[in-house]
Amino acid sequence: MARTVLVTGGARGIGKGIAKAFLEADHNVMIADLADQGDWNYKLASSETMRETVEELGELGEIDAVAVNVTDAESCKSAVSATLERFGALDVLANNAGIITSGPIDELTEAEWDSTYEVNVKGIFHMVRAALPALKASDDPAIVNTSSISGLRGGQNHSSYCGSKFAVIGITQSLAQEFSPHGIRVNAICPGIIGTAMWHDHLMRDKSEEEFNARMQETIPLGRPQAVEDIGEGVVYLATATNVTGISHIVAGGILMS
Ligand code: NAI
Repeated sequence: MARTVLVTGGARGIGKGIAKAFLEADHNVMIADLADQGDWNYKLASSETMRETVEELGELGEIDAVAVNVTDAESCKSAVSATLERFGALDVLANNAGIITSGPIDELTEAEWDSTYEVNVKGIFHMVRAALPALKASDDPAIVNTSSISGLRGGQNHSSYCGSKFAVIGITQSLAQEFSPHGIRVNAICPGIIGTAMWHDHLMRDKSEEEFNARMQETIPLGRPQAVEDIGEGVVYLATATNVTGISHIVAGGILMS
């Protein structure tokens, strides 16, 4: 029977790439995203974006969508219930929803700092707890958390975001140990630079796509930013490799080597 994956932040960007890769690897996919429930210092995914993604990827396999706010425990439980109702099981949890803020620490607001941790870190706490009974019932369970190269190396003006992504790796390694008796593998994906809203609407919002690509060509050893498909491929590997747990898998064209 096909495995079922729940991808948070799956309406667009990297989450959409993860959803696509799982469909191509014959999984059922439930994408879960805010769908108009919240906003940030750049626009987050709308319900229309979520609908369009389901329609676009629908030709690849079984995909559906549910609204979730990962900062809300009850909303996470509802998203898991909707997945179980739709597909009968939940085998893979891809905790991918995330937001970014940047700036010198004395210029960040307390609300910006807190929200970054609420979504990027506590969101994983809520989603894992909601999904755990279903994962324990699965024959082949896995969790893949989206960290970043910013979870392995700090950066100027990125204390809040980097701190949150380092936390994702600490949580991943701890849960890999905690859940190994249940056979639940837990790994982190560490994407490099992908031209999503995080870059185009925040980090490089004053630059054109051409300028973004030119900068990436200069600075990335393999000469291009990562595509969302590159990250999807890495996440499917982590979710299907049966003897791999607790790792942080870098997909970054050589920006960071280990
Ligand atoms: P994005 O902004 O396109 O995608 C993030 C998704 O998460 C959006 O669809 C948004 O609506 C959703 N989301 C935000 N808050 C949420 C909440 N409270 N509940 C549910 N969904 C929520 O950005 P991107 O780049 O696709 O980000 C995906 C993940 O990849 C994030 O965790 C990000 O930190 C990480 N990442 C991104 C990199 C990049 O260069 N774009 C590099 C490394 C990691």
